[in-house]
Amino acid sequence: MSTDFGDWTESAFEDNGRELLAFLGDHFAAIRENPVSEACDTAELVESLDSPLPEAGVEFSALLRDTREKVIPRLLQWNHPSFFGYFPTCASFPGVLAETLTAALNVNAMLWKTSPAASALEAVVLRWIAQLAGCPGEADGVLVTGASLANLYALAAARDAAAGFDVRERGLAGGAGRLRVYTSDQAHSSVDKAVITLGLGLDNLVRIPSDDQYRMRPDALEAAITHDRDAGFTPVAVVATVGTTSVAAADPLGPISDICTRHGVWLHVDAAYAGFYGLSPRLSGVLEDLSVGDSLVVNPQKTLFVPLEGAALYCRRRDALANTFRLVPEYLTSDPDDLTFDFMDRSAQLGRSFKALKMWWVIRTFGRAGLAARLDHAVALAEDLRTIAASHPDWELPVSSPYPLVCLRYQPRAVMSDPGLTDEARRSLLDTLNASILADLNASGRAFLSHSVIREGYVLRVSIGNIRTGADDVRRLWDLLCVTAEKHLAEVHP
Ligand SMILES: Cc1ncc(COP(=O)(O)O)c(C=O)c1O
Repeated sequence: MSTDFGDWTESAFEDNGRELLAFLGDHFAAIRENPVSEACDTAELVESLDSPLPEAGVEFSALLRDTREKVIPRLLQWNHPSFFGYFPTCASFPGVLAETLTAALNVNAMLWKTSPAASALEAVVLRWIAQLAGCPGEADGVLVTGASLANLYALAAARDAAAGFDVRERGLAGGAGRLRVYTSDQAHSSVDKAVITLGLGLDNLVRIPSDDQYRMRPDALEAAITHDRDAGFTPVAVVATVGTTSVAAADPLGPISDICTRHGVWLHVDAAYAGFYGLSPRLSGVLEDLSVGDSLVVNPQKTLFVPLEGAALYCRRRDALANTFRLVPEYLTSDPDDLTFDFMDRSAQLGRSFKALKMWWVIRTFGRAGLAARLDHAVALAEDLRTIAASHPDWELPVSSPYPLVCLRYQPRAVMSDPGLTDEARRSLLDTLNASILADLNASGRAFLSHSVIREGYVLRVSIGNIRTGADDVRRLWDLLCVTAEKHLAEVHP
């Protein structure tokens, strides 16, 4: 009996692969001319995809056709040069091909013996990524699926190291006092999620106020830890952010690290966004020293042109990750020697994809210099946009950051100088105006932005860093912003 039912033959695999690559070549060649997103009716989208479970298999041609017609046009195109939303997570060509190869090999990098070269390569890539982030020192590293999980794993290790009792065996209920984590009021929501998941409770996540540039205030951190110690709490960790999500602020790591050392508290550094920008010659000396923390996350999937998913977690307290996560049932026993170890010991994940391969391909293709030039280019584009916006009387840059995230707020003179508006009414009108600009611009399909709400109000976040974005794309975005803003101003404040 034939055993090739269902799957393709090797030659069909090759033919289909060629067809897919040809399609992708066209897709990327035309990407700038196509919309970054297309408006679509949700009910119609769900209906068009919601087919019954297929009884019989279909041909590749039908799969590719449906994917081209029904799926791809209804996706937000994260690889588009006019994608300026969130933080960039865009895929370079070597990254795309390596991801394909990874799927083809389908290696499980859980134990050294199940993936010798994958594990060895992971160690190499982790060392390179640390060097790219300016942290060449020794640390236990592991590739995980994203910065959210890296934050969770780091806080789990910090909790277990600092709790003062055996959390692994006794659980949190087994210890006296409450464990506390400190982070700024600007930290990413994944810190909250980690605290929830670890059973610490959001009441024990202490939000330290930020200063007028949205950086954690060390004096307030010192006061909070001292207060909590006196009140019987156990401070276990501080999470500092380099490149906050709303405005790309950087917490002052030097003073924060001094406080952590003095109080014996674990410092975790979340540099998911900004971790590699020290490579940019324009920012040389600007990036905080990321090596001062006990643990660190940087995120190649955000700014190193590596396709999703992949973040690098480092822990300078050797074995702390393993103390939390190592658990070896009989069926997973291995025989590591001095040169080998099992990556499953450094996170909660057992089955692990071969993430190192795409990072190895991307870093080797670009080289350190190539990556630095790319990041520098993004920084330069952002500087140009800031200069144009700052010289326009109707636009504000409420906060400055060295990184290529530009926060803009449309504050037209007509509204700012209208004596008939109270401060509250003015702020509300400006918030509505900026939200309408964003909605309209995104609906146009000609660019994509995201937003945040900060003390100054609703801001448009222009996040530059897509590998395909050039000066003309940023210029087009600026023109589009101005035209859209004026149109909405005429509507809300004729
Ligand atoms: C500062 C920061 N930390 C963590 C994360 C979570 O990253 P991930 O999507 O890789 O889980 C983000 C996401 O944007 C972030 O901005």
